[in-house]
Amino acid sequence: MSASALTGIGELATADATHPDGDGSPLGLIQDAAVVVEDGRIEWVGRATAVPATDDRRELGGRAVIPSFVDSHSHLVFAGDRSAEFAARMTGEPYDGGGIAVSMQATRAASDDELRALVGRRIAEMHAQGTGVVEIKSGYGLDVDNEARALRIASEFTDETTFLGAHVVPPEFRESATGRTDYLDLVCGEMLAACAPYARWIDVFCEPNSAFAFTGEESERVLRAGADAGLELRVHGNQLGHGPGVQLAVSLGAASVDHCTFLSDADIAALAGSSTVATLLPGVEFSTKSPYPDARRLIDAGVSVALASDCNPGTCYSSSIPFAIAVAVRDMGMTPAEALLAATSGAAKSLRRTDIGVIRVGARADLTVLDAPSYLHLAYRPGVPIARALTAERPTVSR
Ligand code: NIG
Ligand code: FE
Repeated sequence: MSASALTGIGELATADATHPDGDGSPLGLIQDAAVVVEDGRIEWVGRATAVPATDDRRELGGRAVIPSFVDSHSHLVFAGDRSAEFAARMTGEPYDGGGIAVSMQATRAASDDELRALVGRRIAEMHAQGTGVVEIKSGYGLDVDNEARALRIASEFTDETTFLGAHVVPPEFRESATGRTDYLDLVCGEMLAACAPYARWIDVFCEPNSAFAFTGEESERVLRAGADAGLELRVHGNQLGHGPGVQLAVSLGAASVDHCTFLSDADIAALAGSSTVATLLPGVEFSTKSPYPDARRLIDAGVSVALASDCNPGTCYSSSIPFAIAVAVRDMGMTPAEALLAATSGAAKSLRRTDIGVIRVGARADLTVLDAPSYLHLAYRPGVPIARALTAERPTVSR
């Protein structure tokens, strides 16, 4: 395949602090830059005046280029509509996870082709807003066949698939006294065995503040079973109130604990001394009328932070990372540079990937062009569709 150059980049945010042409900041900004790509990989990065000869060139007219966003947390495999639940929350109804069963019913009733088309449309929507790699969880099947089906379909779109059979206890297990344990037996046994071939990760909704989700002990059981089956760990934790999710994630060496809305000093200290990334999902607080997580407190303590969409039918039906960045900058104490890094290299770290979320020789050529002169416009122009991934225009490169 031939090499092609992107030239006329007014501002290149590499997320590579080590590039010699960079401005010395963690964002590694290069003005008047060019990038050469070949076979879906980055071949060369630097000042436009030094760009090597290539077979073709694309002139960007002074636009900014950033690494494509890495959306490290989404639940795209679902059918049905829960907009009325959102409307009720806007007039004071709290979120408790109960609506997950509504999506479960619609998802079970959908055909494979319907689900595949829904996921495809949502991924296209993400690319159109600047996102490259997307992590996709199961969690709306909640029986063996439907969880495995969700992951099989998700794996047609991404390598980053996550088994979330322990999303909530499904309604058919809620009546009997042993229902919770019976469901956990299923998740850790037959369901895990059916899902593991299609999943890289296992996740659990560790949330004692929801009657439908799981306690710390239950969550630990699920995560240990997943690890024994060869899956890597992620955790939904500390979303609805203080709880054991963060400490559990850190103690088991999870790659990421997601939400982190309610954190104690001990939670922050545990995260700071760990390799677990705190993934913040501001679209959730927006759509549930909850307080935003304090990103400043995490960053000042030395915690690695990621930003992701959590696109899902319940707590946040937005796939927009620029929206998450704008909220993080406006209301969570992040600088625009910190927010962009969290949505790119930070989210890549939460997926234990070094080949995405960065514009560096050898990385995947996942580039996002902004219809703007600077990355600052991501937060400066909220709601305006300035970001678009070039990912969809090149052949897929697997991990
Ligand atoms: O990440 N918190 C758990 N799971 C999703 C919401 C799922 C739903 O309500 O459909 C989340 O917020
Ligand atoms: Fe989630």
